[in-house]
Amino acid sequence: MIIEKLTLRNFRNYEETVLTPHEGVNLFFGANGSGKTNLLEAIHYCALGKSHRITGDQSAVRIGESFAACGVDVRSGGVKREISVRLVPNEAAKKVILLDQKQIKRFSDMMGCLQCVIFSPEDLGLIREGPSVRRRYLDMMISQVNRGYFIALQQYRSGLEQRNALLKNMRGNQRPNFGLLEVFEQAMAGPAEVIVQERIRVVELLSRLAAETYRGISGREEEEFQAGYHSAFRESGNVQEDFVRVMRENREEDLRLGITSAGPHRDDLNLSLNRKNMKVYASQGQIRTAALSLKLAQMKALRQMSGEPPVLLLDDVMSELDKERRMRLVSEISDYQTFITCTDETDLELESDKRIYHVSSINGKAQLELTNPGLEEEKPILKEPDFS
Ligand SMILES: Nc1ncnc2c1ncn2[C@@H]1O[C@H](COP(=O)(O)OP(=O)(O)OP(=O)(O)O)[C@@H](O)[C@H]1O
Ligand SMILES: [Mg+2]
Repeated sequence: MIIEKLTLRNFRNYEETVLTPHEGVNLFFGANGSGKTNLLEAIHYCALGKSHRITGDQSAVRIGESFAACGVDVRSGGVKREISVRLVPNEAAKKVILLDQKQIKRFSDMMGCLQCVIFSPEDLGLIREGPSVRRRYLDMMISQVNRGYFIALQQYRSGLEQRNALLKNMRGNQRPNFGLLEVFEQAMAGPAEVIVQERIRVVELLSRLAAETYRGISGREEEEFQAGYHSAFRESGNVQEDFVRVMRENREEDLRLGITSAGPHRDDLNLSLNRKNMKVYASQGQIRTAALSLKLAQMKALRQMSGEPPVLLLDDVMSELDKERRMRLVSEISDYQTFITCTDETDLELESDKRIYHVSSINGKAQLELTNPGLEEEKPILKEPDFS
């Protein structure tokens, strides 16, 4: 997959910017706060309809402006597509997404049109933090290649919200209406099965790829890195039946707590080194290697599942890695289109062709300057997509 054009308008500290990226490496360097991550964020919006940051859509609209827009032209398997996202603060229809200039009705319609993997220093959280970080990692990956999975996630979440609301309402009732709870549980069972089965299948592939990558980076045959999917619904081999049974068994307790205490929303990705829980036993270096291996495995898994290489976004990761890991990463990503940010241009010694942009912020406006004009961009034209 190749992004042929990227446009930003009133997006964070960008006023109007259009660039035609290189098919290989695109390097953005500049001071802290200049606007490097904002560029990657815009690409993430075009891939998944939302930011990779945990911020609301409204914060992406340039201060003082009435809308923000970002867009990409993507080429994938000989097919060209145009994706544009427009964010409007304080309006009912806050987000409008166009695919080939037509407004999409469901987020699922855009899934997979642009696939990306983002690498960032926060990836260490995949090992160090709680299960929600790992579920998000799985969900973001699988949703990009499997629309059915993304739809099942949405249906499940909506059922879960309704079941939780009902539990809270029924708290303190002498005779709670379990029949109504059952309606939601039955509706959640189908999506739960899709989610669990697909996570199991993808984690098997990931585990294989991540273990191989881990061995390559660490150079230690005796260190065995494994990923396994941990779920409460694998007992009988029938996820729907297990799900309905566990929901029924948990009702009294869930009613007391006012939340649904088990479900795919509580499952986890177990990460182990030589069969010991990494979170508890691994060293700093082992955690770094595992986090990088998981991301490289995600990149390879996406490519295997969709047949197309995803676009890679590397946000400030180079300075975090030691020389060996950095070289390993560089060799692994050589045939992907890559957007790399760093504060110092010398952070990255790459053999490959690349465009190098200097990013600076002048009076609160981000400016991009191509520093190796040997790789001149064709003159880009900023065309306003029709969001009306
Ligand atoms: N809605 C907005 N309107 C205007 N400016 C914004 C908006 N949101 C963020 N900014 C500005 O964008 C800048 C941050 O950009 P970004 O996160 O891309 O920086 P960076 O170059 O990645 O920095 P670092 O090297 O520290 O990671 C800040 O200066 C911030 O004030
Ligand atoms: Mg940044």
